[in-house]
Amino acid sequence: MKTLYQQLARELVQEIESGAYCIGEKMPGIRATSNNKRVSPSTAVAAYRQLELDGYIESRPRSGFYVAHRRRRDVEEPQIENLVTEKPGLVEGQRRVLQLISQINNPNITQFGAGVPDSSFLPLRAMEKALAHAVKFNRIEISSYSKTLGEISLRKQLARRMSQIGCLTHHDDIIVTSGCQEAVHISLKMLTQPGDIVAVESPTFHGHLQTIDALGLKALEIPTHPREGISLEALQLAFDQWPIKACIVIPNFSNPLGSCMSDANKAALAKLCHKAKVPIIEDDIYGDVSFSQQRPSTVKSFDSSGNVIYCSSFSKTISPGMRVGWVSSAKYLDKLEYQKFVTNVSAPGLQQLALASMLRSGMYDKHLRFIRGEIEKSVDLISERIIKTFPLETKITQPSGGYFLWLELPENVDAFALVEAALKHNISIAPGPIFSAKASAKAKFSNYIRISCAVLWNDKTRKAIDTLGEIINAHAQ
Ligand SMILES: Cc1ncc(COP(=O)(O)O)c(C=O)c1O
Repeated sequence: MKTLYQQLARELVQEIESGAYCIGEKMPGIRATSNNKRVSPSTAVAAYRQLELDGYIESRPRSGFYVAHRRRRDVEEPQIENLVTEKPGLVEGQRRVLQLISQINNPNITQFGAGVPDSSFLPLRAMEKALAHAVKFNRIEISSYSKTLGEISLRKQLARRMSQIGCLTHHDDIIVTSGCQEAVHISLKMLTQPGDIVAVESPTFHGHLQTIDALGLKALEIPTHPREGISLEALQLAFDQWPIKACIVIPNFSNPLGSCMSDANKAALAKLCHKAKVPIIEDDIYGDVSFSQQRPSTVKSFDSSGNVIYCSSFSKTISPGMRVGWVSSAKYLDKLEYQKFVTNVSAPGLQQLALASMLRSGMYDKHLRFIRGEIEKSVDLISERIIKTFPLETKITQPSGGYFLWLELPENVDAFALVEAALKHNISIAPGPIFSAKASAKAKFSNYIRISCAVLWNDKTRKAIDTLGEIINAHAQ
């Protein structure tokens, strides 16, 4: 027989699960619940405590209770690597990524491989309008080079947004780039000489490994937890051992892990790198793709010394084709501006002006609410199907934002063989080894894959997951 508070807790769970309250939405307060449900305030408090314990809601200081992104208890997550870091080394095997990228625009392929949003998630009509408007009213600006720093109207919007998330920024400390990849590239180029060592998360986004490769640098892979992000303990060990010149991190909903560092860990990371005099390049490209209404903070917001160089773009929320990103750093601005200038003078003015108007009008925030909901739905449905159809030993992440699921498959499954087999069925997936500096056949993460959930859930996607499950089951025999 359930006590009164347990009955109330059950009732509230049913309301959350039925969608009456969505993730990130505020729950009624204790007094309102006690009045509405005709129970004493202490019973309401006990029920809310139970919901918090079960992960359904989270309390926010001086604000109340909010519906949480719930972690499933029946699913095991991939393990973090041993804390012992390896030796730094040149990046190998990244050419394999070209094959993955070559499939991006093939409409016959179900795109679980690349981190490219399905076009139905993008604000194509608003983009079309903003671009047409920018052409009509800025004939002079778009007929010439944009400033190397970028269009001031966009930089002002970016500075405002950054300040709203705790990074007080002046628009003259921002450089607009051609995507986040370029922002990271010029930051790294400005900080290093060929042969230098750069610390990266492990696993990490292959694009950063390619930048390290292109600049003739060495990568030092630091074990990274699927929920908590880069291991600070391992990073400290690495700083004690090697002359590291920069550290690239993706603290919010990383690619491929989906990990999101807590505020405490972000603050500790900022402090650790400042003490070791190692600049941080913070890639926050997925920060806006949070499944809860509260966007996570940034490492930059815990940095008072200027040691953090902040990079991001609109590729994951508006369109990768816009090729607009930015880098912000007061301390390194002059050096970054020079690197941007010698690379390609400036970012395209037309896209910048269109984006500035999309931000100014409030359209971007409205669109964010839409895309967050769509991707979260897709992550939930794809995870559910994977749990049903993949081998029992499969371990899977449960991200609270971003695009990706990171899967550890049975040990004898070879990710590269799987990619080939899946392609024969018109399905693309990303093999685990490309997220390591040594993407050779017997590399790290050889039995891991990354699944992008920025795809539309429909019969075709469901069938593709089922087919993938059959292929993996056959490979696991
Ligand atoms: C973590 C991360 N950083 C940077 C990029 C590249 O961004 P952009 O297309 O804006 O250059 C990507 C794209 O997949 C990414 O996942």
